[in-house]
Order: sequence, then structure tokens, then C-alpha cells
Amino acid sequence: MLAVGMCNDTGLAFGERWLSAARIQGKRVLEVGSRQVQQPSISLRGPVTALQPREYVGVDLLPGPGVDVVCPAERLVEQFGPAAFDVVLSTEMLEHVADWRAVVSAMKRVCKPGGFLLLTTRSPGFPYHAWPHDHWRFERDDLRAVFADCVELAIESDPKEPGVFVWVQKPEGFVERTPELPVYSMVTRRRRRSVPRVRTFVFTTLFGLRRRYVQGVPRPLRNLVNRLLGRRPA
Ligand SMILES: C[S@@+](CC[C@H](N)C(=O)[O-])C[C@H]1O[C@@H](n2cnc3c(N)ncnc32)[C@H](O)[C@@H]1O
Repeated sequence: MLAVGMCNDTGLAFGERWLSAARIQGKRVLEVGSRQVQQPSISLRGPVTALQPREYVGVDLLPGPGVDVVCPAERLVEQFGPAAFDVVLSTEMLEHVADWRAVVSAMKRVCKPGGFLLLTTRSPGFPYHAWPHDHWRFERDDLRAVFADCVELAIESDPKEPGVFVWVQKPEGFVERTPELPVYSMVTRRRRRSVPRVRTFVFTTLFGLRRRYVQGVPRPLRNLVNRLLGRRPA
């Protein structure tokens, strides 16, 4: 059974469609948000390492299976240097970072000119799932705009559940333009460029409390928490 918010079979099929031996063999591959959080694991690591890259490095905020280096995605360039990898992959991570622009920018910068980026993420309508937080939902057109400074090879909706799959090439002579675009916030339920930290903190605290304790508390308090959270599923 699949747990919510992890690489699914359609994401895996999208990755396998584009990650051919010609693009992987002898190349340096980086996976961002690489922790294998489901059992059995559905991950691009197996199919990609079978294509014999020179190196496959998985990074994540937290240690665990599939993680070679613990490093926040915001700090990829400080960790590895610019233009260090031929292919940069990330499945189901972008919606979980507060500053998605910083992470997209880092993934673009750590990729070599002429290299490739593959990303899967979730769209509005996909349920709340905190790994460890859940901030954003992206439409296909959002990601077209976000990767307009790259060559679009495929930007598609997940045919199975709300989500988007991205496969782009960083051009030679790349000039970064990661736009100040508003995207759908899980905290405010509106498209926003950013959300104040305090608002996110209150939301995630209430959400965590509801999930852990609220079933046992008096109904008026339960109703209040549900009203503040907009009755999102726990
Ligand atoms: C929903 S899980 C997806 C895991 C795996 N990529 C998959 O598709 O099954 C999101 C992962 O992103 C990681 N993550 C969240 N914020 C991160 C950040 N700022 N930097 C690096 N990894 C992060 C989480 O620790 C978690 O392992």
C-alpha cells in the first residue's frame, strides 16, 4: 500500500521514461529529498543506479535509507559547489520546503549547463501530508513559469492524482530567472508568494495537536481547532 505523498508508480514511470542509459551512464546524479520513506520503497534510485552512473548521491534533511549526505536542499551549492551534477532528481519534496524558490534555485545551480532536472510534486486537491511540513501545491503552469529559464522537454500532470512531473534541460549559457510567483499555500488556502513564519508555525502546531490529541478533548475545543484549520483532514 502506498502512503500519501511519496513517489508513486506514475512518477516512477515518468522518471524511467526519461532517464535513459545515454543520460545516466558515467554521469554524476544527485537526488534531493532522497529518504526512502515507504516500504517497499518506490524510488528512482534502483532504476537509475542500474544504468551505471559514475556517482549517485542522495541528500535529505533527515538521515535514513537512501540518504548519503544529510543536507538541507537550500544548501546544495554550498555543499557540492555550482554545476556539480549532470542530472538532478527530486520526487515529492518541493511541496515540503518553506522557501521553494531557494530550493529550485539551488537545484538549477548545482546542475551542469547541458544537464537535466527531473522533479515530481503535488498539485491543489492533493491531501495534507507533513514530511516534516507541507507548505505548497503547484499547478502545471506554475512549473512551466518556474522552469522557463530551462528547455522544457516534458511538464505533465500526474494522470493518477493531483500532481505535476517535470523534465527539463539546463541550457548552455543558462541565465537563472526563478520567478516571484504566487503558488497555492496549504497554510492560507490561497495563492501566495510567501507565508509569514508565525502563521505557518501556528498552523502546523494546531494540525499536529489535532492529529495527536484532539479526538479526546471536549467538543467545543475540537470545533475551535477544526474551524481554525478549515476542517482539513488530519
Ligand atoms: C514525502 S517525502 C518523499 C521521499 C522520497 N523522495 C519519495 O518520493 O518517496 C519528502 C522528503 O523530503 C525531505 N525534505 C523535506 N524538506 C527538506 C529540505 N528542506 N531539504 C532536504 N530534504 C527535505 C523529507 O525529509 C522527506 O524525506
